[in-house]
Amino acid sequence: MEQPESHAATDGVNRRSLLAGVGGLLAAGGAASALAPPAAADPAARPERNPRVEDLLGRMTLAEKLGQLQLVGTEDLARTALATGQLGGVFSVVGAAKLNALQKIAVERTRLRIPLIFGLDVIHGYTTNFPIPLAQGASFDPGVPAADATVSAKEARRSGIHWTYAPMMDVTHEPRWGRIAEGNGEDPYLASRMAVAKVRGYQGDDYSSPDRLAACAKHFVAYGGAEGGRDYNTVDVSLQRLHNLYLPPFKASVEAGVATVMASFNTISGVPAHGNGYVLHDVLKGAYGFRGFVVSDYTGIEELINHGLAGDGADAAAAALPAGVDMEMVSTNYVTHGQQLLAQRRITRDQLDDAVRRILLVKVKLGLFERPYVDEAGEVKAPSPAALAASRQAAGRCMVLLKNDGPVLPLAKSVGSVAVVGPLGTATYDLNGTWAGLGTGAGTTPPVTVVDGIKAAAPGANVTYTAGCTVDGTDTSGFAAAQQAARAADVTVVVVGETAAMSGEAAARSTIDLPGVQQQLVAAIKETGKPFVVVLVNGRPLTIPYLHDNAPAILEAWAPGVQGGHAVADVLFGTVNPGGKLPVSFPRAVGQIPIYYNHENTGRPADPNNKYTSKYLDLETGPLYEFGFGLSYTTFRVDGLRLSSTRLPIRGGRVQVSATVTNTGTRAGDEVVQLYLRDPVASIVQPVRRLRGFERVTLNAGASRTVSFTLTPDDVGFYDNAAKFRVEPGKIEVYVGTSSAATLTASFTVG
Ligand code: NOJ
Repeated sequence: MEQPESHAATDGVNRRSLLAGVGGLLAAGGAASALAPPAAADPAARPERNPRVEDLLGRMTLAEKLGQLQLVGTEDLARTALATGQLGGVFSVVGAAKLNALQKIAVERTRLRIPLIFGLDVIHGYTTNFPIPLAQGASFDPGVPAADATVSAKEARRSGIHWTYAPMMDVTHEPRWGRIAEGNGEDPYLASRMAVAKVRGYQGDDYSSPDRLAACAKHFVAYGGAEGGRDYNTVDVSLQRLHNLYLPPFKASVEAGVATVMASFNTISGVPAHGNGYVLHDVLKGAYGFRGFVVSDYTGIEELINHGLAGDGADAAAAALPAGVDMEMVSTNYVTHGQQLLAQRRITRDQLDDAVRRILLVKVKLGLFERPYVDEAGEVKAPSPAALAASRQAAGRCMVLLKNDGPVLPLAKSVGSVAVVGPLGTATYDLNGTWAGLGTGAGTTPPVTVVDGIKAAAPGANVTYTAGCTVDGTDTSGFAAAQQAARAADVTVVVVGETAAMSGEAAARSTIDLPGVQQQLVAAIKETGKPFVVVLVNGRPLTIPYLHDNAPAILEAWAPGVQGGHAVADVLFGTVNPGGKLPVSFPRAVGQIPIYYNHENTGRPADPNNKYTSKYLDLETGPLYEFGFGLSYTTFRVDGLRLSSTRLPIRGGRVQVSATVTNTGTRAGDEVVQLYLRDPVASIVQPVRRLRGFERVTLNAGASRTVSFTLTPDDVGFYDNAAKFRVEPGKIEVYVGTSSAATLTASFTVG
C-alpha cells in the first residue's frame, strides 16, 4: 500500500505545498519546525475495516469507485448517473416515493446494488421548524438542540432522508455575516456543547435506527472568519486561533462520533478548505482520528479554479482528493477526471479507496444495505402535536429579555386591549428564519403569527394589528394609523426586525441596524406616550442603541420557528419567564465589529481616561449587550464562590468550582450560571476571559441551588502557534456570574 508520501502529488498543488502555505505564517513567526505534519502517517487516519465494505471494494471497478464519490442534487441527474452506475448519493430531493424510486434503480439495476445515501439540509427542522441555531445558542441549554435534532431526525428519516447537513458549528465574530444565524454564536465552548448535543440528538447511539440521521459537522473550517462578513470571503487566521477558536466544536463533534464533515467554501490562510490537506487530512483525519467521510460544500471542488488554486477541473480534483474531500457535491470532477488522474499518478489508488471506504462505511452504519427503502406510509408530512409542543417550549427557552423598565413585562392576561404594530406582527414563514426545513408555501405548515399568539394568550383582549411600514421599505405613510392604534390600546407590541431572507447563506448586510424605517416606527409609537414593548425577530445581532434608550422593554425572539407567535406570547404574558442569554455580543455600531467578549489582551486595554488605549474616539467602549447577558422577570443572586483546591496539578488534576444561585424575586425563573477563566500570564496572549462552564437552573422564588463545575488541565490549556496544546503552570483567575461581565472571582494555581 502506498503510504502518506503519496499525498505529495505532483501537480504543484500538492499537500506539502499546501502545508507550506499554512506554515508560511509560522515561518514568519520563527517556528517553522512546527510544520512537521502532525499525523500524516497516523493509522488512526484510516477508516475502520468492515467485511462488507472490503468485499465490495475488492469487486468494484474504477468507474464504480469514482461513482460512489458523486453526490447530485436533482432526480434527473440522479437517473442519468445511475444509468452508468456512477452515483453515491442524492441530496435535496424529498418525498418517500421519489426517494424509493431512485433507490430501486440503485439496488436493483446497478451491478453491485450499492444503495444511495439521501441527504438534505435539515438545519432546525424537517416539517417542524425549531428556532434558528443562533437562537438555540441563546438557550444555554444543550437540551434545546437535542430536542430539535431528535424531532428532526425522526421526521426526516421516516420520510426517507438518511443524512442531514447539520449541525453548522462555525464560530464567528461577524454579525454582518448572514450565516451567523446558522451557528451558535461567538464562543467555541458554547458552540462545542451545543454541537455535541445536536450530533447526539440526530445520531443517537446507532444511526441505523429508523428515527435517526447521520449528522454532518460543517463547515470545516473557519468559515465564520470571512473578512468583512461577506459570505464566501477570504479567511486569514493564525494557527493558534484556528485551533483555539474555530476547531473546538469540530473536535468535540468528532469525539461525539459525527458521521460526516463538510468542507467550507473559504480559504484558510491562502489555501481553500477544499484543497487544504493540513486541516482535512492532518488535523481532521489524522490528529482527530475522524473515521467518517468529508463531503464538499456544493461546487467547492470546482471553485478551486476560481480561487486560483487549480487551473482546471482535473487540477481541482487532484487537489481535493489527496487533501481529504471524499465526496463531491454537484460538480463532477472526480468522476470526470478520476481515471486519468490515477493513470497520471496525480491521485493514488489508496486515496481513492480510502474515500470509497469511508462513504461505504457510513452507508453500512446507516443500515442501508439491509433496509434501503423507507416505508412510504410512515412519511411525515406535517408536525405532530408533540413536535409542535417541543418547538414551542424550545422557542420560549431561546428568548432573551434585553430590557424591561417599569417593569412593563409581563403583560397581564386580563389586559383590555393590545395593539400589535410592525411589519412582522403577522409574519408567518419569516418566523422560521433561514433554512426552513421542507421549505415554505404549499404543503408546509406556516408558523403561528405573533398576532395569533397574543389573541390565544389573552382571549378577552381586543387585539388589533397595524403594520405601520414594511421591513425594508421607505414608506412612512402607515405611521399615523399605527399611532392611532397605539393610542387606542392599553399596550402596544411592536414587532420589528429582519425577514428570513436577510440572514443565512449569501445574506451579508453592510449595516446591522433595523432595516428600512422600522426604527422610525418605534419612535412614532414612543411619541404616543403609551406603554409599549418591542419584540425583535432577526437572525443576527442588531445595532439597537436607539431601542435601548427609548423602548421600555425589548424581547429578543430571534426567528422562533413554527410556534413562534405562541412562544412570543408565552413570554410576553409571563407563562414562560425568559431565561435565555446572548450567545453573541450586540455591538453599539457596525464600526465596532469585530467585537466579542473573549478578545485577546492588548498592551493598552481600553481606558476612557487615557487617549492612547484601544478604543474609538467617538463610541463608548464595549458592546451594547455583552455575551451571556439576559434578564428575567425575577432576580437572582450568585454568591458563595468556592474552590475545592487552590492548586490544579498539570497531570490529572481537578478543581471543583461551586457557587450558590438564589432566586431573590417573587416568581419562579431560570438563571444561567456561567464560569469564565482568565490566564493572566501565558506564552500566547490569552483571551481576557473565556467561558468554560454553564448551567441553566430553574428556581422557585426564594429557592437556592449550588452549582458545581469541575475543571481539569484541559480547561486551562490552549493551542500555541505550532498547533500544540499546552497547559502552562501559573495562576488562573475564575469568574462566576450571570454574564461575561461576571465579577465574583477567585483563583488557583496550575502546576
Ligand atoms: C451550500 C451551503 O453552504 C451548505 O451549508 C449546504 O449544506 C449545501 N449548500 C447544500 O445545500
